[in-house]
Amino acid sequence: MPLPDPHQQAKTPFIYLNNAATSWPKPPEVIAEVTRCLSQPFAEAGRSAFFSAPDYPAETRELLAEFFSAEHPDRWVFTANATDSLNTLIHGFARRNDALFHVVTTDLEHNSVLRPLHALERDGCLSYTVVPSDPDGRVDPCSIKKAVRPETRLVVMTHGSNVLGTVQDIRTVGEYLAVNDIFFVVDGSQTAGLVLLDLSQVSLDAFVFTGHKALYGMPGTGGFWIRDPTRVAITREGGTGTDSRTLSHPAGMPERFEAGTPNYPGIASLYAGLRFINRTGIDAIGAHDRTLTHLFTRELAGHRNIRLYSSDPDLPVISFNIAGIPPDDAGYILSRAYRIITRTGLHCAPLVHERIDNGTGCIRVSPGYFTTMDECRKAITAICEVADSADP
Ligand SMILES: Cc1ncc(COP(=O)(O)O)c(C=O)c1O
Repeated sequence: MPLPDPHQQAKTPFIYLNNAATSWPKPPEVIAEVTRCLSQPFAEAGRSAFFSAPDYPAETRELLAEFFSAEHPDRWVFTANATDSLNTLIHGFARRNDALFHVVTTDLEHNSVLRPLHALERDGCLSYTVVPSDPDGRVDPCSIKKAVRPETRLVVMTHGSNVLGTVQDIRTVGEYLAVNDIFFVVDGSQTAGLVLLDLSQVSLDAFVFTGHKALYGMPGTGGFWIRDPTRVAITREGGTGTDSRTLSHPAGMPERFEAGTPNYPGIASLYAGLRFINRTGIDAIGAHDRTLTHLFTRELAGHRNIRLYSSDPDLPVISFNIAGIPPDDAGYILSRAYRIITRTGLHCAPLVHERIDNGTGCIRVSPGYFTTMDECRKAITAICEVADSADP
């Protein structure tokens, strides 16, 4: 089967600007690797005597460990997505800390952080404080410090905002928390694959990633890295292919957090996605994204009816509203009249919208590595035409 050329795919009669939700198109090698994976019997480490290359879970853990400079590939866990990772970590941490404890988080968080915290608060397990971001979309590390109380045991914070495209200073936050022995979980869903992160240089306890955004894997992939697995209780038991005689779920890594049959094709897509980034270079990807992002912010900032919510995003995430046109309507016009795919609404991050747009939601455009300048210029023209027609 000939594989689609991403540049040809990008010439389809629509312009895809929703990479912050899920990247598209996928690199050809990702599609090839998934096809290869599905074309052969799975090599199940520990469960079958037959091995065919590659052992996707083992090799992908090695790639992740190298990519993020974190020793011990076994501390990389595969999950269904970032949401699954955050649930595993937050609920598992809560189970390890049975006294009512306090958590600090931020108003930039996705519901995959906010909802587990809310559910645990409702059940009387914890209380939490939400630290607001500043008008530039950044959380001042000092405000995290100020929110910490004697009973604070956990801080959960996004590395990159999926609404404002701002990258947070997790290094400074991590240094302070490490000294105070506060468990630090970072949600890297928007940064993994876009921002070079050296986990040997940052004091954090768990780093969450999703596979289907800038790591170019399939939807339904993700995982986390954990420094000390014993700090998080096992919340899901099942088959691991190891220690099958005992009815207690194995405590060793990575089985501790991986029960049941792995998503082999998904992990194969991640394997190929990481190799694609290594081959292309994260710097080249970042440079391309920055050029496109600046083009959008420069052109849209000048329009009288457009309000940008982040004038200088670090990530290719540009959020705005058009005065007089509700965001869902603007998105509908862009998709129907111009065949431009954006994302509108609250982007599953409700708290930040209370600050930036009174909770109405906004339009988000997120170009990716395969987005061309020409596509961005067409999109800018379309957005400006819609804004010209607005009656604020
Ligand atoms: C910041 C952030 N956290 C978490 C998630 C959830 O990711 P997943 O779809 O892998 O569960 C997203 C996805 O939109 C996100 O942007």
